[in-house]
Amino acid sequence: MKISPSLLAADFLSLGKEIEKINASEADFLHLDVMDGVFVPNISFGFPVLQGVAGKCTKPLDVHMMTVEPEKWIGHVRDLGAAIMNVHQEACLHLYSTVQHIHEAGMMAGVTLNPATPVDTLTDIISDLDLVLIMSVEPGFGGQPFIRHTLEKVRKLKALRDSSGSGALIEVDGGVNAETGALLAEAGADVLVAGSYVFGSKDMDGAIRTLKNLT
Ligand code: DX5
Ligand code: ZN
Repeated sequence: MKISPSLLAADFLSLGKEIEKINASEADFLHLDVMDGVFVPNISFGFPVLQGVAGKCTKPLDVHMMTVEPEKWIGHVRDLGAAIMNVHQEACLHLYSTVQHIHEAGMMAGVTLNPATPVDTLTDIISDLDLVLIMSVEPGFGGQPFIRHTLEKVRKLKALRDSSGSGALIEVDGGVNAETGALLAEAGADVLVAGSYVFGSKDMDGAIRTLKNLT
């Protein structure tokens, strides 16, 4: 299993130290939640903070845009050196073009689905995607309980992905811990995002390793 710890749950007063811990861990990515107070009610951190993080983090950056018109930020996310740019299906009127522009900027293109958005909405674009991010909570806040129906969505997405010949990774975000992580691994997830479970743990390395060992 690949693991993408979510910086949203980090201690922002010790951000440099938190990133050093991630750098030294077995994490595969660092998940960065960008919010605009419009697409979601909350606000997290903006590009001045992200630039500092990007300069210090040695893991590939997995950027999750929870903003309206995410296409306006493709150049900024590229300039961070991000590996993956995730945009919400619900925020993109012209999703095909946005995905092409993310690719032209040299990044992996991920499309994110809110809990109530069906997997079938990606039928006609799945072959163009590098990753699908399934939200297992409503976006905007860390520490929420996992929505069980997500397991069914992951199974459906895996069937869609495999039948279309797409190589898109299946990533899941929200309420991930050792218990829900094990269920997600069984359902077919490839990447787990975890905020509170990783940063709230006294043993961050151990928490990451526990999730990483799930098959
Ligand atoms: C929620 C964010 C998540 C969040 C997950 O909008 O997309 O990445 O940090 O937090 P946990 O793992 O605490 O549910
Ligand atoms: Zn996220």
